[in-house]
Amino acid sequence: MLIKLQNVYKIYSEGLEAEVRALDGINLEIDYGEFVAVVGPSGSGKSTLMNILGCLDVPSHGSYWIDGVDVNERSDAQLSFLRNKQIGFIFQSFNLIASMNALENVELPLIYQGIAPAKRQALAMEALGRVGLAQRSHHRPSEMSGGQQQRVAIARAIATKPPIIMADEPTGALDSKTGREVLSFLQGLNREGSTIILITHDNSIAATAKRLVRISDGRIVEDKRQEVSWA
Ligand SMILES: Nc1ncnc2c1ncn2[C@@H]1O[C@H](COP(=O)(O)OP(=O)(O)O)[C@@H](O)[C@H]1O
Ligand SMILES: [Mg+2]
Repeated sequence: MLIKLQNVYKIYSEGLEAEVRALDGINLEIDYGEFVAVVGPSGSGKSTLMNILGCLDVPSHGSYWIDGVDVNERSDAQLSFLRNKQIGFIFQSFNLIASMNALENVELPLIYQGIAPAKRQALAMEALGRVGLAQRSHHRPSEMSGGQQQRVAIARAIATKPPIIMADEPTGALDSKTGREVLSFLQGLNREGSTIILITHDNSIAATAKRLVRISDGRIVEDKRQEVSWA
């Protein structure tokens, strides 16, 4: 089992009148090679869940294992290492660094891994090539369209060849055609063996995933396998 959450709660202002249960008792297992869409309306807890799955945040209560490792028992340094090695992140707003060109953005996670300059440039160029942007490596984000910027962000996510990709509304800022391209790229990665966790509020996007997990008010209210044509 790749991921296991047991009775996970994320509670803001716990015990106060203003208490918010962003996650309200989540039990979830995700296996290697799955393509899971987590779908739900705005405010249902999707980003909170992704942040915990990605070890960017910790639960208020409950347990989380990733690749058999109990996340509660890890130091911050061990968690950063785990995050950097195992997970590629893609966000709705791309989160590229404006002062860096495409190549430099994609190199960042490789720098964190301590990979030497020549090797990391080669890996970053390979990743940019995979998203069809080898010709744009010296362009800054402001010189690219939204779709191109998201492809740079995808290249950054895959540059370290992580086994897991977590994408929070990756098509949310894109037109529908560009959004479909991003989706089919994620499907291709899944065919090659990557585990994909895709967060979306859009039911039509969730319908393209092999597994749909529906969340409402911090709880899982539906969890089903789906037939897909692309797998
Ligand atoms: N840092 C925070 N402090 C207080 N409440 C928060 C915080 N982050 C999220 N929330 C609340 O938790 C709930 C879930 O938020 P979120 O996970 O961002 O939902 P989604 O991604 O599905 O839109 C919302 O009610 C939100 O207002
Ligand atoms: Mg969100």
